[in-house]
Amino acid sequence: MTALLETRSVSMHYGAFRALSDVSIALTEGEVVSIVGPNGAGKTTLVNVLTGLLVPTSGQVLFRGSDIAGVGPVLLAERGLARAFQLIQVFPQLTVAETIAAAIVSKQRKRWNVFSSLEADREVARRVEEVARIFGLEDRVDVAATALSQGEKKLLDVASAFALEPEVILLDEPTSGVSSAEKHVIMKTMLQAAEKAGVKGLLLVEHDMDLVATYSDRIIALAEGKVLANLPPKQFFSAAEVVETIIGGRRGPAPFSGGGFQSTKGLEPAEQDLRPPN
Ligand SMILES: Nc1ncnc2c1ncn2[C@@H]1O[C@H](COP(=O)(O)OP(=O)(O)O)[C@@H](O)[C@H]1O
Ligand SMILES: [Mg+2]
Repeated sequence: MTALLETRSVSMHYGAFRALSDVSIALTEGEVVSIVGPNGAGKTTLVNVLTGLLVPTSGQVLFRGSDIAGVGPVLLAERGLARAFQLIQVFPQLTVAETIAAAIVSKQRKRWNVFSSLEADREVARRVEEVARIFGLEDRVDVAATALSQGEKKLLDVASAFALEPEVILLDEPTSGVSSAEKHVIMKTMLQAAEKAGVKGLLLVEHDMDLVATYSDRIIALAEGKVLANLPPKQFFSAAEVVETIIGGRRGPAPFSGGGFQSTKGLEPAEQDLRPPN
């Protein structure tokens, strides 16, 4: 089967510094894959290479079998690959609905040229409502994006990426800066949304080993720009040297409970847990 997204022997050098060395990884349909590793391991560089933001020094980057090295995030999003960012950029002057609408419009402009502007507006409004509902933000659409809790901002950021109707989504530390109570809510909401939205594969960079253990089908460990391990959670957490390198003296992982889109089945989005205190 063709991988959704793949690197083949990718190296990325910043001057003389090797941020990635001979990295070959793949994301296949139906998978949730986590990339872990200490700070400076090359995780963000890998995500930037995978989203066409950086052209690797050598090697290939393939999305559904075609070379996408350096294609750029805008064209890639049109082809079905979207990312959310580690540092969320919320436009202060926009409401939640407007933020989602901006993402939708950027994707749909071409397709909707055939509609009258009124019809197009209605279609955007309908999609905004749908995306907001999937992310449990339906009661927050008229609120300024800046008024959201950190957890809700994360969800809004991811919702904007989902608004692009991607087949594959890349998330660089989706839960960074969020309280541990909110982390599971965000992960569950995201995975449920991914399933509802027909997303076929999800690649995320995540530091929280509890989340990684709970939701991943496979874990890729990077250290000093090299792939140290590429294993399902059970095997990953049994590989003592790998775990030691990745999490060092920090506390061990939570018991493995099976990953993937399926791990959220039957769970209700708990958006109320994300409300900022009044
Ligand atoms: N634009 C850049 N120029 C030079 N060095 C960089 C650049 N971006 C990242 N690096 C270096 O590459 C290494 C990997 O960085 P990064 O991919 O951000 O790691 P991670 O996301 O795992 O923390 C780090 O040592 C970082 O300092
Ligand atoms: Mg990073």
